[in-house]
Amino acid sequence: MSAPKRYTVTAALPYANGPVHIGHLAGCYLPADIYVRYLRQNEKDVKFICGSDEHGVAIIMKAKAEGVSPQEIVDKYNGIMQQAFEGFGISFDIYSRTSKEIHHKTASDFFLKLYEKGAFTEKETEQYYDPEAEQFLADRYIEGECPNCHFPDAYGDQCENCGTSLSPTDLINPRSRLSGAKPERRKTKHWFLPLDHLSGRIKSFIQSHKDWKPNVYGQCMSWLDDSGGLQARSMTRDLDWGIKVPLPDAEGKVLYVWFDAPIGYISATKELMGDDWETWWKDEDTALIHFIGKDNIVFHCIIFPAMLMEHGEFILPDQVPANEFLNLEGKKISTSRNWAVWLHEYLQDFPDQQDVLRYALCAAAPETKDNDFTWKDFQTRNNSELVAIYGNFVNRVLVLMQKYYNGTVPQPAAFSETDQELLQLLADAPANIGQSLDQYRFREALSAYIQLARSGNKYLADEEPWKLVKTDPERTQTILYVATQVCAALAQLGEPFLPFTSARLRSFLHLDLMSWEACKRKEFIPAGSQLEKGELLFQKIEDDKVQTQLDKLKRNPTQNNPSQKLIPLKEEITFDDFTKLDIRTGTILAAEPVPKTDKLLKLTVDIGVETRTIVSGIAEHFKPEDIIGQQVSVLANLAPKKLRGVESKGMVLMAENAEGKLVFAQPSDTMENGSVVR
Ligand code: MF3
Ligand code: ZN
Repeated sequence: MSAPKRYTVTAALPYANGPVHIGHLAGCYLPADIYVRYLRQNEKDVKFICGSDEHGVAIIMKAKAEGVSPQEIVDKYNGIMQQAFEGFGISFDIYSRTSKEIHHKTASDFFLKLYEKGAFTEKETEQYYDPEAEQFLADRYIEGECPNCHFPDAYGDQCENCGTSLSPTDLINPRSRLSGAKPERRKTKHWFLPLDHLSGRIKSFIQSHKDWKPNVYGQCMSWLDDSGGLQARSMTRDLDWGIKVPLPDAEGKVLYVWFDAPIGYISATKELMGDDWETWWKDEDTALIHFIGKDNIVFHCIIFPAMLMEHGEFILPDQVPANEFLNLEGKKISTSRNWAVWLHEYLQDFPDQQDVLRYALCAAAPETKDNDFTWKDFQTRNNSELVAIYGNFVNRVLVLMQKYYNGTVPQPAAFSETDQELLQLLADAPANIGQSLDQYRFREALSAYIQLARSGNKYLADEEPWKLVKTDPERTQTILYVATQVCAALAQLGEPFLPFTSARLRSFLHLDLMSWEACKRKEFIPAGSQLEKGELLFQKIEDDKVQTQLDKLKRNPTQNNPSQKLIPLKEEITFDDFTKLDIRTGTILAAEPVPKTDKLLKLTVDIGVETRTIVSGIAEHFKPEDIIGQQVSVLANLAPKKLRGVESKGMVLMAENAEGKLVFAQPSDTMENGSVVR
């Protein structure tokens, strides 16, 4: 698209089944907010849309767990989430809820429109049913092993580990999350959206977006390539919580949450814009941008666009800048195990330090791969960067300005080469930072921004105006004039990243927010302007504060009782079943990554009787060069299977703990290759 006339920016509607944590913020809401603030400062016409996702099994499960109604759950968490977002300055133009009347109507109408166009196929199929709980097991009511990456706790609609979108019948060894029972199959009728006839259009839509981030583009293409053609997906469910299927013969059925939720973006826009909403969804000059986490990629890049295509009147997304996952202290963030930093708690524990977390999370954002948040890193970012560089610099300028000139910006004399270089850096900064932001490279943008503070700080340290003031008052004036300009650029260009700090700094400098374009300048504050004394922008965070946070994580009772997370035992088997397994010791002779995947390694394994190729999903845990020579146990008589075009013969046995850490299940002493394990 040539320059869009306006931007509809959405951030994934979070499920209202729990508070939001740092993973949500880093993965989706913070980058979205930075981007939107940047667009606004560029004087673009932008609407920033979000709200609570209040339907689906995720909500019902939580209600069951807390022993209250789904309505009580969504009311409670909608409030907590909304406050947390506001607390961190996430500047939505609207934060709506999918339980609102306007959304029920919009989603029903959308469904009916597709129905009337004949877009659905009505099918009676067999679905899993929990005989103990007496209900069908849709989506997250059912868990089992992911057929794609073999993550043991994949949900019936999706594997949160590899992002694949699933049907309950895809799961290996499914189990009911309601009763733990082994589900049985029963017939039920649903409305399916066939995708096969759209696959050509979807593919060319994706392929027209080679500009998408590689993780997003790659996941879409592998989904299109791997799934053996796009399967029809049921858009309805047997549940009593959600939007009723607006058809006469649909008692007890509601819209699938992934059908209704993305329509929530549209409903929220209607609520915000009234009759004008259509421009934001139907005009070709509107850029539609979805900020999401990686587990939402398929829904935003394939299924929702397919719905929009079938409907016919809507534009399709231009960008889907999805992030990977943020871990916490080396472990996967987990709501159920309470291994998380909750935003509402952070706001209590670190009042007025919202920007510190914004800064630390943006600096460590999982933009291209999963990344780790640690409290130590948080402390270092604050103490060594925000306090020691940014805060120190600004404070020195303001203090010296008061001390020497009563806060009035002095007249500069001729600029030295160093002065000119620094002023030029300011003039170039908006384009420089902007170029990164335009490409959704938030870490890079932030580091270009903080570079200004670094340069300012170095400038003062090198020039030492506090020494010159006695001998060369004119030079001192020039230095402080230049340094003031750096403060001003920091105040202006910090708005997307550190909005609270920027606003404070602007108030010290008596500046209004300037457009990004207008910031392409060397001088912001003329001589003679009056500045405030100001206050420290950042406070040092002491070790005990960090320790308190670490203790809080460790204190958490479920951490000490990991058995809560252990996978239930499988069904009993006979000795004869067992003797069918041929497990042998072997040695890895060679290992190399399988192209186009982050997960798989192609191993060459000597199992005594022969040497063979085994593809193993361990690439995220081991470097190929580190495992050569590793002795392993191999399930040798597993039927061969092609994985990404490579024939895999057998399986390397691994032990995996609740955090997903993998180790080789190997004999404790070196054994001859080919020895039998039993
Ligand atoms: N509630 C979903 C989640 O938390 C995201 C929904 S995004 C929307 O994973 F597009 F459906 F709104
Ligand atoms: Zn998976």
